[in-house]
Amino acid sequence: MKFMYDDVEVSIARLLEQMTLEEKIGQLMQLSPSLFGAFGLTKDEIIAQMVNGELSYEEFSQIGRDYHEDKIRAGLIGSMGGVTGAAKVNELQRIAVEESRLGIPILFGLDVIHGYRTIFPIPLAEACSWEPELARETAKIAAKEAAAAGLHWTFAPMVDIARDPRWGRISEGAGEDPYLGSLMAAARVKGFQGEDLSNPSALLACAKHLVAYGGAVGGRDYNTVDMSLQMLHDVYLPPFKAAAEAGVGTFMSAFNDLNGIPCTANRYLLSEVLRKQYGFQGFVVSDANSVAEVMVHGYAETRKEASKKALMAGVDMDMSHGTYEEDLPQLLAEEQLSHADLNEAVRRVLRMKFALGLFENPYRTTPEQEQRLLLAPEHLTLAREAAQRSIVLLKNENEALPLSRGNKKIALIGPLADNADEMLGAWAISGNPNNVVTIREGIAAAAGGDTQVVYAKGCEIDDNKSDFTEALEAARGSDVVIAVVGESSNMSGEAASRLNLGLPGRQEELLKALHAAGKPLIVVLVNGRPLSIPWAAEHADAIVEAWQLGTLSGHALADVLFGDYNPSGKLVATFPHSAGQVPVYYNHPNTGRPTGEFKFTMKYLDGSTEPLYPFGYGLSYTTFAYERLTLSQSEVTADGRIIAEVDITNTGNRFGEEVVQLYVSDVVASRVRPIKELKGFAKVALQPGECKRVAIELEVASLGFHNEFLEYVVEPGRFMVYVGPNSKDGIESEFVLIS
Ligand code: NOJ
Repeated sequence: MKFMYDDVEVSIARLLEQMTLEEKIGQLMQLSPSLFGAFGLTKDEIIAQMVNGELSYEEFSQIGRDYHEDKIRAGLIGSMGGVTGAAKVNELQRIAVEESRLGIPILFGLDVIHGYRTIFPIPLAEACSWEPELARETAKIAAKEAAAAGLHWTFAPMVDIARDPRWGRISEGAGEDPYLGSLMAAARVKGFQGEDLSNPSALLACAKHLVAYGGAVGGRDYNTVDMSLQMLHDVYLPPFKAAAEAGVGTFMSAFNDLNGIPCTANRYLLSEVLRKQYGFQGFVVSDANSVAEVMVHGYAETRKEASKKALMAGVDMDMSHGTYEEDLPQLLAEEQLSHADLNEAVRRVLRMKFALGLFENPYRTTPEQEQRLLLAPEHLTLAREAAQRSIVLLKNENEALPLSRGNKKIALIGPLADNADEMLGAWAISGNPNNVVTIREGIAAAAGGDTQVVYAKGCEIDDNKSDFTEALEAARGSDVVIAVVGESSNMSGEAASRLNLGLPGRQEELLKALHAAGKPLIVVLVNGRPLSIPWAAEHADAIVEAWQLGTLSGHALADVLFGDYNPSGKLVATFPHSAGQVPVYYNHPNTGRPTGEFKFTMKYLDGSTEPLYPFGYGLSYTTFAYERLTLSQSEVTADGRIIAEVDITNTGNRFGEEVVQLYVSDVVASRVRPIKELKGFAKVALQPGECKRVAIELEVASLGFHNEFLEYVVEPGRFMVYVGPNSKDGIESEFVLIS
């Protein structure tokens, strides 16, 4: 190895002394061979040549390969995005380490969002488990597989708070709540990175997208965000802070502007908040092409100015378009940027390469290792458990569920009932549908030989191609109908905002026709966002929210449908009655005219202000009673703690688990406060008839907020405490915070 010194900072300083300007700038460049900008030809030139038949796809790929291999050899590439596979990565790494002048290893990154080859539930679903430990475990396995496939870095976790389900990227995060979101953010960071980044099965994590990307006006992806700094610090930033505290090595700047300044050029966010307030030591990468887009925002006259603003704000690495590569030399020559600024960014990138141990061990895996680890049996076991725990039971009347194994015939209907691709979600690029257990396969396997499962598609997900005849025949001849409906995976994720939140296409009509067949109707939803499904909520006998559950979707869903696993998931994002209500979220500020009977109150003329299903909601096949809420003190100081205790009894006749939730409201404060906020929870397992006294600790310091001077304050006064099964229901108590 060319550079091995005991002290990393000394090693970095020595490297910097030897690096040319181009080599330094190269460290700040992330090349993605899948993007046009990476090939040294403009997009238009490539398209023109391909259209004219002058360039075949093979030639196009070869240009890409030659281009990046030459650049690696010249030491001009710090990171590559989208290259996977131990053999391929090692081959490119060998060029970097053995053939480039200084032998600096490349950092290979990919979006490993909820699994690499073993795909776990989408993050929104997994958060419904309310089990940060589970999220940590699945992130750890995702890292293990991805690292075996040659990767060092994942562009995850996405920790954006999302209150607007029109925004398709709600699927990638942990929902609407900052408290739960922060726990999930920290857990995922720890899962990916492990105790020690130099462990070859750890991945460097990247908390994204800094910040408030989920606050896009109208839920339109990439749209503008204008919000108070108090809201930013109280609601949108906490998961980022939690990620920083968990030791995340990188952050990604968001596409959107925040209060008029593009996040990628936002010095307040990237330097003041991230580095000064949170003490972040790693590096910041832009989102794909977001440096150049600072100009499109109209915040820079030229791309060069955009590059200057981004670097000065604190974006160390430019993802994907060679913007820094082309602009920084001139900016330095013109002394618009200092060499000290450049060196600082390079230093931050190199630090992470040292932390990953890449200088000592640039080849962290082998093709054999990759072959051995992908889809390892224990990974699949975890995938099934994670999927079971992500499912939310939204409705269950007349004990429609669990299904009896005595049924002679089950009609399995719907465009998502026999579909492998759609189970993986929008962001599972390294997943393989061939490994997926479909819902049809899962149900057939669980039903047993005496039950016939008759399948009919009924309709497509999103067009008018439908012939319900076969589906209705199947329904009429069955004991029970399971209708699997929802969204295709490309309806959520990036650039997938929706205006309407109902079931696309003719799926609701299909449900109505099936309902008319008169058999018990179980609706299974497969989707990447909260949906508004008032008709199904009223008429179906049962509704199971199955999201996109990943590789073992079919088995996990069947486990729930047949009662082999009793569902315990609770929603982490509010389900609206109609899209016109959104954003509708539980922790909204008090108003002067809360919703009431009287005309001049906060309401709609033509519909409810209440959610269809509130945050925290989810049923079980058993029932739970909440009684005897006590608080350890009735008065407490700001540095104190309160223990809330409550009796939870399993009042049904099955074993079950319950997420006991604790909400607090600050009755009077110097700013208008949310009607309630989640501040603690516990998941408790109970046998039938069993009662446990559950304790939840409340840190009084967590009850503060940012005041008009943007100081975090915990104010004295009266606080209400609600403990219950969701954000609407529960029993209450109160305490006084004294100074
Ligand atoms: C754009 C997305 O916004 C970001 O989340 C992702 O990590 C990058 N593309 C790279 O794929």
